[in-house]
Formats: sequence, structure tokens, C-alpha cells
Amino acid sequence: MLGAGAAASVSGLSLGCSKSSARGVSPRRDGIAQFSATTAANFPKGFFWGTATASYQIEGAWKEDGKGESIWDRFSHTPGKIKNGDTGDTACDSYHRWREDIALMKAMNMNSYRFSIAWPRVQPAGSGAANAKGMDYYSRLVDALLEAHIRPFVTLFHWDLPQALEDAGGWPNRDTASRFADYVQIMAQALGDRVSDWMIFNEPDAFVDLGYLEGEHAPGHTSLLDFLKATHVVNLAQGAGFRALKATRPGSRVGTAFSMSPCEPATDSEADKVAAERAHAVTNLWFLDTAMNGRYPEALTFLPERAMGIKSGDMEKIKTPLDFIGINLYYRTIASAPGAVERAAHFQQWLFPVKMDGGQVGPKTDIGWEVWPKALYDIVTRITKDYNRPVIEITESGCSYNDGPDSSGVIRDQRRIEYHRQYLAALARAIAEGADVRGYHAWSLLDNFEWAEGYSQRFGLAYVDFKTEKRTLKESGKWYGKVAEKNGITATTS
Ligand code: FCB
Repeated sequence: MLGAGAAASVSGLSLGCSKSSARGVSPRRDGIAQFSATTAANFPKGFFWGTATASYQIEGAWKEDGKGESIWDRFSHTPGKIKNGDTGDTACDSYHRWREDIALMKAMNMNSYRFSIAWPRVQPAGSGAANAKGMDYYSRLVDALLEAHIRPFVTLFHWDLPQALEDAGGWPNRDTASRFADYVQIMAQALGDRVSDWMIFNEPDAFVDLGYLEGEHAPGHTSLLDFLKATHVVNLAQGAGFRALKATRPGSRVGTAFSMSPCEPATDSEADKVAAERAHAVTNLWFLDTAMNGRYPEALTFLPERAMGIKSGDMEKIKTPLDFIGINLYYRTIASAPGAVERAAHFQQWLFPVKMDGGQVGPKTDIGWEVWPKALYDIVTRITKDYNRPVIEITESGCSYNDGPDSSGVIRDQRRIEYHRQYLAALARAIAEGADVRGYHAWSLLDNFEWAEGYSQRFGLAYVDFKTEKRTLKESGKWYGKVAEKNGITATTS
């Protein structure tokens, strides 16, 4: 139900989404033509142009320099969990090749880089003293980014929980929130003299839903109770992490990167409209309204407080209005009300009576996600309205197209250029209408390990030959570099 990166799927047994739902529907052009190919737009002065990555997806070096095991190491080493048996053991080898990565960013005129810290590299077992070698890696990376005039934009948790903490109960265990706050404090202390902009979590709804309810991601649980408990502990951790950062570095700017997707009713019926609002609450607000307003949004038919482990005083701790709202946006969601029979058959549908699916009108990317630029406009304008014009960062948007080098070694990924151009045109319109958006981060700098899809989906602006680890800027990367240089999109597509 919850992942933005997680494409909505209709499943009687789950509350919602699967990260890769490829459904065969004849593509029409409407989705991509919503923002005319002749649109030109400038972005506000000082706009951040960036790319985004995540530690487990690019670093490799999974047990080097004292790094502890993460739940993704364990999960990917478990047969049958990842397509083609792929693992992140080596990934893009960015642990060793980060200088090459920064060179790519420079070639693209980037002024922001969103990356994540692997918690087990810093605290191998999720608690106790910091591992100096792991810390050094991030410290060097931050220094080199600053030297290249690129803002380090740091995500503290992009899904690679130390396995030792999972063994102690993982996110459903309330104690994990305190462990997380300790870790955040260590990072704020170590990097906060040079890093000012932080994201506490990446897509809390995706890792809670896919990891604890649907089992498609690490740690692979399929338990409604674990999902409910993890929801609340992650919200507690978000509040505790926020406070730990502010206590150590009062001047820091702190947000979270939320997976978001505008939820449209499948039909004009009242029931579908109610379902769409429920879908919006659970998809977009489940970990946002808690921080901003100290309350759970009206997503479920009732809030199972006891099952979630909500204690008195918790909501006050959770209320930590964020300095900015990070939005990861790939596609829209179509919501409808399930029939009585469907509802009766599954407890989860009773708690969350909504069917969600990806849109079926626009063209599909290679992972099966609908290209629908208006989705970015819709969500940015809605969040702007509902949260009184907050500061917004687009922390991820991108597309998987598996184009490879042609005979002369050039990667002609015109469809990726089209995707970003149209989504940027949609964003420019939202900004023109008053949204306070500070940056756009293309997912991703590099082709990388795409979770349960392994290396089968290429999202990068740079192509990675996984045999040699050689990086080559795709045509889209060159194009994006021009966009950053001009601080805007021009009327032509190339
Ligand atoms: C998002 C994730 C990111 C990547 C993209 C494609 O949901 O945050 O790590 O997998 O999807």
C-alpha cells in the first residue's frame, strides 16, 4: 500500500503495493504529453540540481573495514529473495570509486548530492562506539563534495538496518528508536560541522510495508502486527532522530524523504472518492502528519492503538515539525473501494478498505511504472496547500530504461530525457503557482542494485558496466548537466 517506489498493486492479501508491478496495457501518449514538449522553464535562483543514491544500492564493500552485516546483506544472501540471485556485495563499488562518482557529478554541473549512510558501517552491531574506518569514508566523501561545490544532502537511513538490531526485534521493537537516536547523534557530531541538510528516513512507508507486511524487502516479514508496531516505532524514531540532530546541531535543517503518489478515485462514485482519500492518508501522510501535526491521519477504519503499541505521551514525542518535506515521486495511484466480498475475505481490507493500482494510460518504463508527469504537479500543489506552503525538496524521481551502449559506446536513452523534461515542466508549473521547492534529485546517479529487482533495472544517468565497474554518462546525464548549467529546461528535448 505504502511505497512510492512501491508501485500500487491490488492484492487481497496485502494492504497495498508491490515495488514492481508490470501490467501489460497499451501505452498512449497522454501521460507524457500533459506538459508540452515545447515548454521552457527557468527555476528559482540557487535551485539545487542533484542526483540521489543509497548506500546499499551503490557502495559494495559489504564487509570491509569493520562494517557489520545489514538486513539487506542477510536478505540478498538468502536464496530466492532477489531476482537472478543478485546481491549488493559489490554493487557499483562506490566505497572505492567515490572519486569517479564525484567526477560524474561535476561533469553534470551538479550542486547537490543525496546519499545515505550505512548504519552498520558506522555502528557494526547498531549500538556502541563508532567504527572509525566507516566514519572516515563518509567524512572523506563529504569533504570532497564540498571541495567540488556540491551540497552533501544526507539520508540517515535508507533501509540497511544492522542485522544485530533485527535479531533483537527490528523496527517493531520500541528499543530500536532509542538505538536510532544514538546513531543519529553520532553522525551529527561527526559530520554536522560540514553537513547542514539531513533526511532522517528514506520512504518510511516503503520499508515498513514491504519489509514487515509484504515480505518483498528485507527483513522479509509478512505480519500485520509487525507492520503496525513498526509503523509506530519508526514514527517514534523519526521524532527522536529529529531531536537528537537539533540537540547536537541546532542550525541543521532536517526532513525525511517520503514516498508520495497522488491518489485518484477510479470512478466518480462516492465510495471511490472516500477510498482515494484513505489511500492518500496512508500513502502520503502516514509518517508525515505524525511529525507535522502529532496525529495519525485517517487512513484506517479505526486506529488499533494497542496493537501499534501507542503509549500515552507518544504523540507529543512524535510531533517534530520538519524543516522541509522531501518528496520521492514516480507515478500516480488509482484507488477504488473493494466490494463487500473482498472486504469480508481479508482482515486487512477490513482495516484498510482500499484497492490501489498504478495508472494504466501513460507509457510504462521498463519496471512497469506509468509515466505521468502530472503526478508531480498534483502532489506538490496538494502538499503545498495542506501544509501551508512548506519547504519542499524533490528527493527522488526517475525511470528505469535498460538502454545500453551502441556500437560507438553511446547510451542513447532519449526516453529518460523525455521523462525528466516532462516531470521538470510539471514541477516548474507548481513552483510558478506558489510551491516553495528548493531542489530536484534525479534517481539515480548510477545504474545500481534495485532491491528485489537486483541489477535488472537501470535507473542511472550514468551507465555502469557491472563487470568492470566502468561508468559512462548516458545522453540523459549530458542533457541533465545542461539543465543544471542553465538552471532550467529549454523548449527542445535534446
Ligand atoms: C525508491 C527508493 C530508491 C529506488 C527507487 C527506484 O522507492 O527510495 O531506493 O529504489 O525507488
